[in-house]
Amino acid sequence: MPNDWSDEPIGLVGAGTIGGGWAATYLARRRPVLVVDPAPAALGRLTSYLEGVWPSVRRTVPGAPMSAPLDLLRLVPTAGLGAAALVHENVPESVEAKQDAYRSIETAVAPGVPILSSSGGLMPSDLQARMDHPERLVVAHPQSPVYALPLVEVLAGKATSPTVVTAVLAHLADLGKRPVLLHREIPGYLTNRLTFAMLREVTHLLAEGVVDATGIEDAVVHGITPRFLIGGPLMSLALAGGPDGMRGAMRSFADTIEGWWSDLGTPHLDEDARARLIAAGDEVLDGRAIGDVLAARDAAAVDVLALPHSVDRGAEPRT
Ligand SMILES: NC(=O)c1ccc[n+]([C@@H]2O[C@H](COP(=O)([O-])OP(=O)(O)OC[C@H]3O[C@@H](n4cnc5c(N)ncnc54)[C@H](O)[C@@H]3O)[C@@H](O)[C@H]2O)c1
Repeated sequence: MPNDWSDEPIGLVGAGTIGGGWAATYLARRRPVLVVDPAPAALGRLTSYLEGVWPSVRRTVPGAPMSAPLDLLRLVPTAGLGAAALVHENVPESVEAKQDAYRSIETAVAPGVPILSSSGGLMPSDLQARMDHPERLVVAHPQSPVYALPLVEVLAGKATSPTVVTAVLAHLADLGKRPVLLHREIPGYLTNRLTFAMLREVTHLLAEGVVDATGIEDAVVHGITPRFLIGGPLMSLALAGGPDGMRGAMRSFADTIEGWWSDLGTPHLDEDARARLIAAGDEVLDGRAIGDVLAARDAAAVDVLALPHSVDRGAEPRT
């Protein structure tokens, strides 16, 4: 397995949003990157992405080069991946497309080279089903922007080797990531399940006319999220429980929570619900171009992570 200080190249198959994010992550650490992407504009798109995000990358990775080290980046055909010490697969979210990609990657790289899928919710056992060496396939699901957000969800399939999982976790930690290992595979993994559990209730509240789109955004952005920077749902509830923490919270709130749970909606994304979500999306974007808001969001993520009292710092005194 490659270490952070190694100069063995990393293979990236698929160079869209996520492949570009992995490229920035490795190039910031001066790791050579071999990119496979059949789109005619892939290389131009990737280099302009890297140049655009580089100021943010430099703020995220101490010691990153002043400008994107494009000399360490090479677009290759799949057969050119032979020297890669590890491959991230970032092709579109389809089992068939990913299985096809592994078939061709396996013709190019040695059997011991780990292949990490960026999939956001597919079952690793399905992804590895047609591989010659399925033991090397691990899901390593990053968050966008990949170069900035530390979390990577790691999942093994039925045929994945525990040794490979251990090595991948160590590699991601070396890379400055915060890998979280799921103990079994589950569709949608962790972050997407949590995110879309909230969207389910949002869909219900919009259908019931309880609040409008702006109100929902305000509740999450100005209320829930700043607290969640210091601790997630478990920490938040423990903090609400008084000096006894979660024991106090269970005494005080368990019955109330149970009552609210039984009142949560179980909507379907039927025509009406989709139309309401589309209207809500238009309302919150308020005519702004998606690309502009995305760029602002990614820059804000870098700012937030740079705050001295951000994640994991909740118990530190202010200085
Ligand atoms: N976009 C996100 O926020 C996000 C977050 C986490 C994970 N993911 C996952 O990452 C993966 C990639 O998503 P994305 O948003 O980067 O998609 P994207 O559409 O931006 O990029 C996909 C890229 O793969 C290329 N491609 C298609 N077939 C290929 C092949 N056979 N070999 C090599 N390249 C090929 C395309 O030309 C394109 O450049 C998906 O599995 C997605 O679910 C996405």
